[in-house]
Amino acid sequence: MNKIEKIINEMTLSEKLNTLHGTSFWLFNSYKADGEGVVCSDGPNGVRKMQNSNIEEVFSPINFVKCTTFPTGSTFACSFDQNLVEKMGIALAHEFQFYKINVALGPAACIKRNPLCGRNFEYLSEDPLLSGYIAGSYIKGFESTGCGTSLKHYVANNQEYGRQVNSSNLSLKCLRDIYTKGFEIAVREGNPASIMVSYNKINGVYACENSYILEDVMRKEIGYKGLFISDWTAVNDPLKSLHAGLNVEMPERDYEEGFYEKAYKEGKIKNEDLTKHLNYYIPFIDKYSDQKELSSIDFEKHLKIAIEVAENSIVLAKNEDNFFPLNSKEEVIVIGLRARDMNYYGGGSSITNSYYKPDFVRILTDKNINFEYDSAYDDEENLNLALLEKIKNQKVLVFLGCDHQEESEGYDRKDMKLPDHQLKLMNEILKITNNVGVIVESGSVVELPFLDNIKGLFIPYFAGEGEDFALYNLIYGFANPSGKLAETWIKKYDDCPGSLTYDKDIFNSYYDEDIYVGYRYYDKYKINVNFPFGFGLSYSKFKLNLLRVAINSKDIKCEVEVTNVSETKGKEVVQLYIGKKDSNIYRVRRELVAFSKAVVYPHSKKKVVLSINYSDLRVFDPTKNKMTLEDGDYELYLCNSSRDEISVTKITLKGEKITKYDFQGPDHSLVFKENEDINLLVSSAIKTNVFKKYLTSVGLDEEKLKNTFFKDGFLKNPIRCLAGLGILKYRDVELILPEIIKELRETKK
Ligand code: GLC
Repeated sequence: MNKIEKIINEMTLSEKLNTLHGTSFWLFNSYKADGEGVVCSDGPNGVRKMQNSNIEEVFSPINFVKCTTFPTGSTFACSFDQNLVEKMGIALAHEFQFYKINVALGPAACIKRNPLCGRNFEYLSEDPLLSGYIAGSYIKGFESTGCGTSLKHYVANNQEYGRQVNSSNLSLKCLRDIYTKGFEIAVREGNPASIMVSYNKINGVYACENSYILEDVMRKEIGYKGLFISDWTAVNDPLKSLHAGLNVEMPERDYEEGFYEKAYKEGKIKNEDLTKHLNYYIPFIDKYSDQKELSSIDFEKHLKIAIEVAENSIVLAKNEDNFFPLNSKEEVIVIGLRARDMNYYGGGSSITNSYYKPDFVRILTDKNINFEYDSAYDDEENLNLALLEKIKNQKVLVFLGCDHQEESEGYDRKDMKLPDHQLKLMNEILKITNNVGVIVESGSVVELPFLDNIKGLFIPYFAGEGEDFALYNLIYGFANPSGKLAETWIKKYDDCPGSLTYDKDIFNSYYDEDIYVGYRYYDKYKINVNFPFGFGLSYSKFKLNLLRVAINSKDIKCEVEVTNVSETKGKEVVQLYIGKKDSNIYRVRRELVAFSKAVVYPHSKKKVVLSINYSDLRVFDPTKNKMTLEDGDYELYLCNSSRDEISVTKITLKGEKITKYDFQGPDHSLVFKENEDINLLVSSAIKTNVFKKYLTSVGLDEEKLKNTFFKDGFLKNPIRCLAGLGILKYRDVELILPEIIKELRETKK
């Protein structure tokens, strides 16, 4: 009998059942009644640990402990630098450990399918390989300290609109080649303590109840041994979830007294279910419940790391006439509220209470830079640009960006536009001068109608508390930009596939573009974009040359020579893409297959060796129902972005034959509707007197709900979610449900 079997034998039934759900919001119970549990907490770029748990303050920063706000995923993915992200993971982990948190709820690695997704600031890329390796490095850094992680939200949770009732309807090939791929890579690279299973359905089956993604993909194919935890209130049916492979429902939900015991007695929970679950659960508790205590946080050191990550991630997207770097002696006019009140993190569970509040204008003052500043639009967003006459001679820096909380968990953006008053401001400025450099802070792609009329553009995304120092160093040339876009910057929203249907049906999202997401779509249809995936400028100039390719049994080694032909030391990202023109199965013309960042000194060369993993070359073959390396000739592209091809090299790989298979797309016969059960939408239930009366009886109403959680996003959640958050009693909701449904049916007559 091994150690775990022995422990299981000694456990009481209630100790076993008690491990199927959390306690309070943040605790995984020990498997021993008197044992130490595991504490978890958000978020992916900084500790969100509440000081008090009253529901109204669940998203107010002052309610959280002080932490370093590191760059968000949208920023650090643009570093294309696994070592740097791993280093950030270590620093982040130390802050979680200081606050006695054993598992952090991050990284967030859903694919950026649509620019309107409110949480894109947390996510990494439109490309699964970049997303997977960056998430893997983050996890590696974290887990190396002993602090655990929770890779989220598995899987195909690509919108906030109706996220707990929406079904992502997509082909199995699309699911595997795009949406699970990044998670598989991250698990293989980083081995996270847990995987957080997402809110949505996949082809009608809730992710928490989806044995294909849990058991078949992650357990059997990838060999994952960590814990599957639900997203908070993501569990629809706890027994179906347990049987599909979910380990823990978070947070606990107040089922009827003795719910689990009754299920066990009725044989709905079997001993083998519990044994299988505990074989994952016990090692998790043993490993993460006992961690070293840190006596302090070196906030100054972590701020420097946050600056370093931002500096190496922020993308210089335009630099006409070498507008940047600025000369610190020449006067510059700085315009825009965002230059002071910077937008450096996103809304929802990623909110943090930063140790340091960035302020670009303050830095210029401290550095005795010759500048003048005008916020240009006040709180009413009225333009009052007092500096108009001054801007005709000097260089102008304009800070733009979405308003705080416009990009957040819980709801999506309405469009890709910057705020009207900011576009008005740009019009006024560009009537006078185009000697303008713009810094645009956003968690995802925004339309840039003024792009042709400005000289320079930095894209920081939400770059954390070090954003001001990083921008100062990059703008004045103390640092050399090396970020590359991890998503395509399209010109207008309707260029995005799926834009016509994105938020039209709260219960069904059809992934009609299938594997052609992001650059895979825009490049295929040659859509004119502002900036392609993988694009980013530097103050240096580089030449790349693929010297040799070695096809080994365990991987493919590619040696690339990077030459810096400029006077400035800089970093270059080598990008290798692969294609297979003669494939028997529909494919992307070329997709990222390896990347590496190298520092190269002026007028010198460096040899960079990239490894291509055979597992990353496999595609899902629906005829064999498995990931397959197709036999035959491939094209290996050395590129400077998804569209900027430097060279192509033919290679031949030994693999399997794939029988002809043409594009399929999602099954449109799958049409899911609102369920008249615990998944009834809050917006439906709240139409009934029965539910309104109940809300009043617990001191709630529609306004309070909207103000507490995600504006009106909350109304688009199932009523079970209110029970899961402890706002309502699950039992009460179950008891009044028949009357709610009865009243709804009567009103429909
Ligand atoms: C949220 C988020 C998830 C977060 C969790 C705990 O709803 O979806 O990312 O970690 O609940 O706050």
